[in-house]
Amino acid sequence: MQEGEQSGRPAAMEGHGGYNSRSTVQAGGASAALPRLERAALDVPLPPGTSPIVVADYGASQGRNSLLPMAVAVQTLRQRLGNGRAISVIHTDLAGNDFSALFELLNTDPQSYLTLDQDAFASAIGRSFYEQILPDDSVTLGWCAWSVQWLSRAPVAIPDHVQVAYSRDERTRAAFATQAAQDWSDFLRHRGRELRPGGRLVIITMALTDDGDFGYRPVLGAMQDTLEELVAEGEVRREEASRMAIPTVGRTRAEFAAPFMSGECSDLALEHIEIFEAEDAIWRDFLKDGDATAFGARWAAFSRASVLPTLALGLSEGTSAERVRDFVERMETGMAERLAAGPARTLMPLAIIVVAATDEAASRSQAAWDVTKP
Ligand SMILES: C[S@@+](CC[C@H](N)C(=O)[O-])C[C@H]1O[C@@H](n2cnc3c(N)ncnc32)[C@H](O)[C@@H]1O
Repeated sequence: MQEGEQSGRPAAMEGHGGYNSRSTVQAGGASAALPRLERAALDVPLPPGTSPIVVADYGASQGRNSLLPMAVAVQTLRQRLGNGRAISVIHTDLAGNDFSALFELLNTDPQSYLTLDQDAFASAIGRSFYEQILPDDSVTLGWCAWSVQWLSRAPVAIPDHVQVAYSRDERTRAAFATQAAQDWSDFLRHRGRELRPGGRLVIITMALTDDGDFGYRPVLGAMQDTLEELVAEGEVRREEASRMAIPTVGRTRAEFAAPFMSGECSDLALEHIEIFEAEDAIWRDFLKDGDATAFGARWAAFSRASVLPTLALGLSEGTSAERVRDFVERMETGMAERLAAGPARTLMPLAIIVVAATDEAASRSQAAWDVTKP
């Protein structure tokens, strides 16, 4: 393995539908982008003829948080298409994703677009979105929520924290920034090929505030402290802990805009970009009920579903499934206790970005950047 590499999988969500049951924080954050998705579904040119209209859901995980956006996309397109024309919804994720949970949900949930629209069809692709994964000019509408903050790999080990935003090591931060720029450019370049002319992609992803704050400070502090405790107790070896990193990044407004300005993704225009602070619903509930234990447990469950399995990849090869399970449980319990001891609001900076595939991409990007830069 290369330095900083944990395994072949850069991102691992909790399996067996675990992410589906513990991802309401992500659902809340993404809801702010739904009006943009609806607008995009109204604006995209519809391909002539009778071929299916393709909607792509990039980084779908187990699908719970895709139900609402895909229903918005399908129902808005349906209003324009009338009955009969097929809409093909393609959910993509890494090959190791729990696609069984996704299909189970799509087949059974009353809110599934398959239930709501008899001419909608579901399929999936298990391949990294840092490659081209769909044919040229095939996608009319794309959605990508909470996924493109995951890098294709951790370029180096982080010597002093699980999250690079809180590392004091300049070289490590620079290596992650370089990887983040490369991955963002690759992601856009491939989508530029896949989108049909006029097609739109709506992205919601982690961002940095204009002051450069990544947020999640209490949660990540509790995670780092619990990991240190497990090392001190001998439950986790130091070399295992030093491999543990969450390869996610928040990007600045300028970093999001860079590939559009440099011409790296000349097929795409940056139509809209905004950075905002998502509401911390767990904090809001705590203010109502004063239940610190529930507050700690909910943030720890969020971490268990979305990042603790990735940290567990740092445990030595050949580690038993029981040890992995114990590690995740100890981390979750330790985090819950720490967070319950001092509830605080969590800053969650997010970006909503809309890109369009167009012939005059470059000049439209410049115009969007001119109106949205602070
Ligand atoms: C936090 S989940 C988001 C799931 C869902 N879209 C939501 O809004 O809750 C991030 C997902 O991105 C996927 N992901 C990370 N890197 C990826 C890549 N290179 N290609 C495809 N999917 C990726 C992960 O496997 C995971 O399922």
